Amino acid sequence: MEYNVVRDAKKILNDSSYVVKNPNQNKNRWNKVFGNNNPIHLELGMGRGEFIIEMAKKYPKINFIGLELNESQTATAVSKLGNTHINNLKMICADALDIINIFGREIDTIYLTFSEPWPKPIDERKRFTHESFLKLYDRVFKKNKHIILKTDNKGLFQYSLETLSSYWYTFKKISLDLHNDERNISNIPTDWELKCVKDGKPIYYLEARFDE
Ligand SMILES: C[S@@+](CC[C@H](N)C(=O)[O-])C[C@H]1O[C@@H](n2cnc3c(N)ncnc32)[C@H](O)[C@@H]1O
Repeated sequence: MEYNVVRDAKKILNDSSYVVKNPNQNKNRWNKVFGNNNPIHLELGMGRGEFIIEMAKKYPKINFIGLELNESQTATAVSKLGNTHINNLKMICADALDIINIFGREIDTIYLTFSEPWPKPIDERKRFTHESFLKLYDRVFKKNKHIILKTDNKGLFQYSLETLSSYWYTFKKISLDLHNDERNISNIPTDWELKCVKDGKPIYYLEARFDE
């Protein structure tokens, strides 16, 4: 997928106190980075950060980390923060494949929001719910595993239900139309999500757990 190129992306990342520059150096010490022992929630592929920034504002007793591969996307997320001081938010510009070098068993929840569906079979391994990713997650979850996924892509949703259940996750919540769900599932929508809803497309949602 192609994104708007931010010309000064590197400088924006470098100048921001939200961006952790050498994330590998903080493996097993993210509680020190945040200065507390609160739970740590990680979003993979945070894009422009809409979801993770609002989550951090809404839940100050949880530490949030947004990880994103693309520098321009990360810089756009950082630019949104301006002069704010959100103590429970950090950002990392890195490949999700690298999470085992960045985190020890420190993560409580992983969010996968509107991840790329990679519809071609040849790209299956790039899907964040491919078994190879689920194996990486095993190595960063603190104890119990907890994944929250939202997508407008039915194929990715069906695929994720299959891979997660084959990997012994159980589903705490599933919604085939999050925005019309009578249960009023707590949600922070992104711009893309709201556009989908406006266009009459359902948002698929799942919350999966594996408790030790
Ligand atoms: C479709 S966007 C969704 C962004 C955001 N989660 C949202 O809901 O608006 C998917 C994002 O995942 C990022 N991404 C894809 N593969 C990645 C990887 N292996 N590691 C980190 N980020 C990745 C892309 O660069 C892109 O910004």
